[in-house]
Amino acid sequence: MKPRVVVVGSFSQDLAFFATNFPRPGETVFGDFRPGPGGKGFNQAVAATRAGAPTLFIGAVGRDAFGAGAKKFSHANGLRSHFVEKKKEPTGTAVICVNASGQNHIVVAPGANLALHKQDIPDEPLRDAHVVVCQCESDFRTVAHVLKTARAAGAVTVLNPAPMRPEFDFKLLRHTEVLVPNEMEFLALARGVPATAALLRTAAYREAGELNYSNLASLKADAFHRLCRALGVPIVIVTLGAKGCFVSQPDVYTRINPHDVDALDTTGAGDAFVGGFAAGLVRFNRNVFEAAHFANAVAALSVTQPGTAAAMPTAREITRFLKKRDHA
Ligand code: RIB
Repeated sequence: MKPRVVVVGSFSQDLAFFATNFPRPGETVFGDFRPGPGGKGFNQAVAATRAGAPTLFIGAVGRDAFGAGAKKFSHANGLRSHFVEKKKEPTGTAVICVNASGQNHIVVAPGANLALHKQDIPDEPLRDAHVVVCQCESDFRTVAHVLKTARAAGAVTVLNPAPMRPEFDFKLLRHTEVLVPNEMEFLALARGVPATAALLRTAAYREAGELNYSNLASLKADAFHRLCRALGVPIVIVTLGAKGCFVSQPDVYTRINPHDVDALDTTGAGDAFVGGFAAGLVRFNRNVFEAAHFANAVAALSVTQPGTAAAMPTAREITRFLKKRDHA
């Protein structure tokens, strides 16, 4: 079967350290070392595959052991991959520190990921896909090309603006049908897009006090929706971590409540959501609300396991989890 979901983006070898507390500047702490496959694009592709959607990952790696490991993991997990091997760049790497509450700090060395160019990307899978997903660990020219080609061919284009880089190309929003930022990414976008920035300066928003990472989730739903609309993207889904997510479609908006789970490691939860959402769009015939509800469960399950790509739940685990919650 042809891939229904195509994810174009990053693979990174994650070098994760689990410690009780994050080290402070100048401090050294002991911890456990757990390396594993990662990178936002790859995590999302693994999440979509495991959630049941035939998926293709397109990305770049170096000619090294980490690149070889990426191919092996992809094969073992039934994920089709088109890895472009770069001679001069190493495979991307990420140093991740996770504390006892499951929070994380990440530094990424993108390596080969930024050398994935539009000439490296076959057009056919983009034209045949139902859903095409990109993130921001790639060259923005490549992301623009992928989203533009896929949208022109009728695929649902999903952009996860993570990580939000200072040089973010706002023109990407023109080719995006579904935007999935977290709180910090949403606020950066809202401040950077003239229409949303103007809205934030109006009395209604100023009265609510300055919006920030921790108070965004408590913004009134209609005010939240108006901000999402002003971004100019048809569908905006803001992931709110332990507070669930906010879904804004042209004529309707809703909050989806979080699932109460014991979080062991929240790294990659956003990727789990995005991959789960892409798979959900396929499974529920492009119904955004159903797909977001499904994605919310995928993200919740992912944080109960350590690691990123390896922590993504299977379709059976997701179904069992949702059944239990529906009957609770
Ligand atoms: O979103 C989590 C991912 O961010 C990690 O897998 C790491 O590689 C970084 O890209």
